[in-house]
Amino acid sequence: MAKEQIKIGLVLCSCGKTLEERIDFRRLEDHARKLPHITQIITCSDLCKDPESHLKGLKGKVDRLLFAGCSERSSLSFPEDRLFKVLDFLGIDQGLFETANLKEQCALVHEDREATTAKALDLLQMAYEKLLTNRKAHSFTEVKKEVLVIGGGVAGLSCAQGLADLGIKVTLVEKKPYLGGHLCQLPLLWQSEGYASVCTSECLGPVIVRETLLRDNVEAWTSAQLVEVAKRNGNFFVKIEKEPLWVDPEKCISCGKCTAVCPEEINNEFELGFKTRKVIDKDFALAMPDTYNIVGEACTKCGECVKVCPTGAINLEAPKETIEKEFGAVALATGYSAYDMHAFENLGYKWPNVVTMLEFERLWAHKFNNKPPISIAFILCQKDKVGYCSRLCCLATMKHAVRLSMAYLGTEVNVYYQSLRTCGRAFESFRREAEEKGVGFLQTEVQRVEQGEEGWLKIITDQGEFEADLVVLAEPLVPAGARLTKMFGVEQDAYGFPIEFQPRLIRPLETNVERVFALGTAKGFKDIQESIESGQAAALKIYNTLKGREQKFVSIIEEEKCSRCGICLSICPHGAISMDEKGAHIDPAFCKGCGLCYASCATKAIRLLNLEDYQILKMAEVAFAQTPPHEPRILAFLCYWCSYAAGDLMGVNGEKLPESFRSIRIRCSASINPDVVYEIFRRDLADGVLVAGCPPKNCHHLWGNDMQNRRFKLLGQVFKEIGLGHKIARWEFIGVTMWPQLAKIIRSMHQTLKEAKSS
Ligand code: FES
Repeated sequence: MAKEQIKIGLVLCSCGKTLEERIDFRRLEDHARKLPHITQIITCSDLCKDPESHLKGLKGKVDRLLFAGCSERSSLSFPEDRLFKVLDFLGIDQGLFETANLKEQCALVHEDREATTAKALDLLQMAYEKLLTNRKAHSFTEVKKEVLVIGGGVAGLSCAQGLADLGIKVTLVEKKPYLGGHLCQLPLLWQSEGYASVCTSECLGPVIVRETLLRDNVEAWTSAQLVEVAKRNGNFFVKIEKEPLWVDPEKCISCGKCTAVCPEEINNEFELGFKTRKVIDKDFALAMPDTYNIVGEACTKCGECVKVCPTGAINLEAPKETIEKEFGAVALATGYSAYDMHAFENLGYKWPNVVTMLEFERLWAHKFNNKPPISIAFILCQKDKVGYCSRLCCLATMKHAVRLSMAYLGTEVNVYYQSLRTCGRAFESFRREAEEKGVGFLQTEVQRVEQGEEGWLKIITDQGEFEADLVVLAEPLVPAGARLTKMFGVEQDAYGFPIEFQPRLIRPLETNVERVFALGTAKGFKDIQESIESGQAAALKIYNTLKGREQKFVSIIEEEKCSRCGICLSICPHGAISMDEKGAHIDPAFCKGCGLCYASCATKAIRLLNLEDYQILKMAEVAFAQTPPHEPRILAFLCYWCSYAAGDLMGVNGEKLPESFRSIRIRCSASINPDVVYEIFRRDLADGVLVAGCPPKNCHHLWGNDMQNRRFKLLGQVFKEIGLGHKIARWEFIGVTMWPQLAKIIRSMHQTLKEAKSS
């Protein structure tokens, strides 16, 4: 839009007239009347009470909105989200809107009415200058309304059910031939942390799977794996390989005639080595989908099964299938796997009667082949060796201890533990029940498990030597989906779990990649009930993201300027950038507008829509127009969530600051290019510059604050060499609650600069 056509509506709200105690609103209004593009002014004292009726007069008369009043970040009554609703009502684009924070970082932090009014005039002018240069927000609504759920355990199944009920098509991909995941291997399931009772997977497994498969919107592919992922035009293009369909599930009637004639017997993976199966068979009787499968690499293609199949369901020449499909969102429900216990040589896993907890479940399922042990020893806790607590082992042990003492009265049960973590009501009562029933609990460190005489095992601890004829080791659990997580560009913690998108407390299922979710045990250890909760919750979250979004801040690239250095590609925390022979490409539908790429682009090929350097400089040019020359001018760049909120809380909590302090709300702290800081000083637009970002490990864009911290260390050396005179450039980690520190830093900068100015 040509500048001469811009029509801005200004709303001046005095917050119940309280701001007028510190700011002369008449002067603000007079000043605004002289600004050529402000065509409408509305003054009020209670906009938040009924914004629509206050602002309806602006409808159709203005194309941009400038709101001057409380903080869009911190106001409890009129925050950013509410402002967006007002913009919708007025038909104004989210990009064509700015605010001047006259309350939290102006009226509340200053005392002198004249100087505070002067600052308010500057803040108004800064917002006005910026608004003139703003552009419409990027809008992305072409999200494919189809979701890929990877992992057919209970979390994935629950998520698929939820999405299907919301009318979304789901493709569920599971690498095993059956659905239900680990639940199918656990004969007894505890019900919840609050209810000390058990259910059986033979009942629940088929129910959960059936309920999913009966949804019209769900297509489930078993024996299938994801092999390729690409992001294009805001969606995910994936390649999925399906094992050959040797047994057609549409024709198979599960009669079992094929199994009866199959001559080949192999180890049954489902039974973890305790049972065999035929090459054509079901993994377990209640496996769903209810169809037989062939273990391809073990099949001799003798054709006996083909001969006896009454429905012609078997085709030994069936080819592998590769399917390409596009999805708008992805749910990673890839579950866990067990740590290889051979790594703990001292615990004797090589002996046949030393098993893992999961293996014990299968032994229990088969009633110990009618030879129950005389004495079982549970050895808990390898957390010191792997670095974390797997959370479920102590709880599972309590379940086993109680059930063993009920079902096998002649079996002695002892639990060797270092720290017993029976959190929750049910597990404490399981533990008490186990103790009452005679289960032994010994707090000790097990040093070794050795083979004794006649199949007995010796458990050597720091408190003596004990015996058992079955030892159960609590195996640490590890994430099973690290490869897939990486394929989608999702960041992982030190152990391979996906990291949640910050703030993780309120975005527990989102990852750093837009529309990629992690749920169930894929993102941390959960029991069945918690995994189901996580899947059900994710469905609603995913559904909402499929509506698309408007994004005011987004990086765009002028490809002809790209030097293909690849820096942007390596630092983008959201996987929004790709590179080909023509250069870097940014997919705005995956960009979160953090600005890390923007501030790092050496050729200035990247632009950060609505927060570019020239816009910042335009604001800086007018930021101190009303500041007396002897006052040190301090300009703070505060990151969008943490540091800016701390800035607001200074006012809310009654901190007092010199009136010559201004702030600009930026995206991530790393979106500020050192060139801008240098330019501000070179042009003498400020005396002190403070850049503040989230505390360590809390940056909303993963490593932005670390990057900026390191950048400022280098910048400090460069500035020292160039010689800044008395100017100060400072970097700080400032979290929301660190408002006292922020206030202290600003006052101390002011003091130092003041002394320098007067010397
Ligand atoms: Fe605060 Fe990155 S978002 S420093």
